[in-house]
Amino acid sequence: MAASNNKSALGLLRVLLVASVAVPAVLLLVTSWRDYNTQMARARQDLERTCEVAQENAVRVFERQRDVAEHVNDLVRDMTENDVLASQFTLHRQFAALTANIPEIQSVLLVGANGEPLVSAGLYPLPRHVSVSDRDYFRGAIAVRSGAFISSLQMGKFLKQPFFGFARTWTGPDGVAKGVIDIAVSPQYFTDFYELLLTEDGIDDHGKIMMLMRNDGQVLARYPRPRGPLPRVQSASPFAAAIARSPEGGVFKANGVTGPDPPRRIFAYRRVTGFPLYVIAGRSTSAILAVWWQIILGRLAVGVPTTFALFAITWTALVRTRREEWALAQADAEIVKREHAEQALLRAQRLEAVGQLTGGVAHDFNNLLAVIIGSIELLERRSDDATTVQRLARNIRAASERGAEITAKLLSFSRQHRVNPEVVDVNARLRAFEPLLRQAVNETITLTFELAPQVCSVSLDPGEFESAVLNLVGNARDAMPRGGRITITTRNDIIGADHAEMKPGPAVRVTVSDDGAGMDAETAARAIEPFFTTKGVGQGTGLGLSQVYGFAKQSGGDLAIETAPGVGTSIAILLPGHAGEVTIATSDAPLSVQVRPSEAVVLVVEDEPEVRAVAVEGLKAIGYRTLSAADAEAALDILRQNGRVDLLFADIVMPGARNGLQLQDEARRLRPGLKVLLTSGYSLGAGPLPAGVPVLSKPYDQTRLADQVREVLAAAG
Ligand SMILES: Nc1ncnc2c1ncn2[C@@H]1O[C@H](COP(=O)(O)OP(=O)(O)OP(=O)(O)O)[C@@H](O)[C@H]1O
Ligand SMILES: [Mg+2]
Repeated sequence: MAASNNKSALGLLRVLLVASVAVPAVLLLVTSWRDYNTQMARARQDLERTCEVAQENAVRVFERQRDVAEHVNDLVRDMTENDVLASQFTLHRQFAALTANIPEIQSVLLVGANGEPLVSAGLYPLPRHVSVSDRDYFRGAIAVRSGAFISSLQMGKFLKQPFFGFARTWTGPDGVAKGVIDIAVSPQYFTDFYELLLTEDGIDDHGKIMMLMRNDGQVLARYPRPRGPLPRVQSASPFAAAIARSPEGGVFKANGVTGPDPPRRIFAYRRVTGFPLYVIAGRSTSAILAVWWQIILGRLAVGVPTTFALFAITWTALVRTRREEWALAQADAEIVKREHAEQALLRAQRLEAVGQLTGGVAHDFNNLLAVIIGSIELLERRSDDATTVQRLARNIRAASERGAEITAKLLSFSRQHRVNPEVVDVNARLRAFEPLLRQAVNETITLTFELAPQVCSVSLDPGEFESAVLNLVGNARDAMPRGGRITITTRNDIIGADHAEMKPGPAVRVTVSDDGAGMDAETAARAIEPFFTTKGVGQGTGLGLSQVYGFAKQSGGDLAIETAPGVGTSIAILLPGHAGEVTIATSDAPLSVQVRPSEAVVLVVEDEPEVRAVAVEGLKAIGYRTLSAADAEAALDILRQNGRVDLLFADIVMPGARNGLQLQDEARRLRPGLKVLLTSGYSLGAGPLPAGVPVLSKPYDQTRLADQVREVLAAAG
């Protein structure tokens, strides 16, 4: 039980051990994945918002330039190139005034049809015979004719500063192009603005980037500022693919916009409405991941020690339980070993007991047989002398009775005798038994009875009870070789709940006390052991007290021994009070009605020829007529012949198809009302006795046989 409990506890602990690591790990994975997505989404949103701001700014700036260009055109619409040159100074002042408060505008340049700069907002007077006809803003503006052309980033011819041009045609009232108006836009303005935008969020990211770009991939402004010339976006770049997919705006991941440009970034872009331009913002994914890592590290800082503690606790519990299981297994093995040893000891003790018994019994029987054989020899020689014959016959009888006593004790010890409990009055039994008890002690001993006036009735086998009292009195007598006093007392008692061997309730205590030798502790401890005796070989079998103890136990009672060397011994039999209706069987039962023996026919069934012959002779001697059979079949044959049979007297244990019990069943079927007396010396295994069938135990003498036969015949059939 304990072992299986431990097994399931071990299993649970193993599961807990795995769970203590697996559950936090799975939780960490799930939450980290969720956080990663959240961080990425947030970064993308931030980028898109930044992009939107930059796009709005770009729209405003370029619309302003369109207005400025329009204004310039208004000023010079009706003029010829010569007119313009003539009023170069005035126009220079006007241009300068027009752009004075516009931060991104470096200068405004009016170029004639052949590419000669005519007026500049930034420089007066302009050198003559210079041409910008090779510049892309001049050619681009002429090419687009109406609308604006945004040039690439380049170095100013006069001011020697980088710029990109916002150019349109100088259009006359008739709509014919007379030249080009070019506004030089400073990339620095955008770079500053982008720096402001990107640094305001306070995120430490060296991969942050923002660009203004022509839709053909030409970069116009970029933060952080490049060291060399600004590169162009390759047509096969991830950005080109993204605007091909979604021209108005979107998000993509790449290693660079213009070409391979680590680190890897996430980009958002937007088209500058109304112009062939895009704004792009990017952040390095490693910076986003760094934030994410911070969160994970925070979690790990809490989770790892907790998980470790949980794991350690579970592990300790597991190790402890395992050790406990091992100890339990060890203890189990120890118990098994001890049980084996105990069994071996028990076997050895049993063998020793059998040896003692065999020795003692053989010795006793040899003595008896010596008496019997000797007497018979004398009988054969002195058969003519009646007094000698009688004396020898008495010797034989005494020896045989002693033999019967020994076999009875042996059977009692082997518990192979039947108990026939009756509800009795212990006092009455003892009174009836008194003469026999007095016979058992000699004149040097005073035997007194102290019987309580009213004891409760008890259920017991009267024969066994008498044997027990006789054994106790015999022991007391043997303990007082020089005489003394034996007292037999009875009194009512109450068994408490603390008594381990008996049920609580009323009881009767029958005590036999003596003032003899007493027992030392060792003898007292072993006294009830079967075959334990301190008496010489042939003097005692050592079965007396074990019979008393067995009887007490069989009656639901117990035995109590009080003894002190030199003081005396007092042994009490405790018997539980009878609970049912009290019908007291007294020893002085009404005398049986005398049946004239000559009227009765007794059928004797016995397989042992000598025993059968003795029974037949005995019955004949007191006047019965007899029939005899060696087995059940022969007996049934006789019964079937319709001759007179009054009593079937049969042995229970017989060889053949039927034993005595089955014979009596069959006989009663053949002759209902037939009286039956069974006999047995050893009836265990023959089956339960049918109620009300009297059994005469073997060995029996002629008197007991005659009494029993008379009693059975007299009983109402
Ligand atoms: N009243 C007693 N006083 C002293 N010793 C006793 C008394 N009753 C029993 N004993 C001791 O206990 C032993 C066992 O008693 P038990 O009656 O079982 O066998 P026994 O008397 O030796 O043999 P048996 O009863 O067959 O004659 C005795 O040998 C004796 O030593
Ligand atoms: Mg004895």
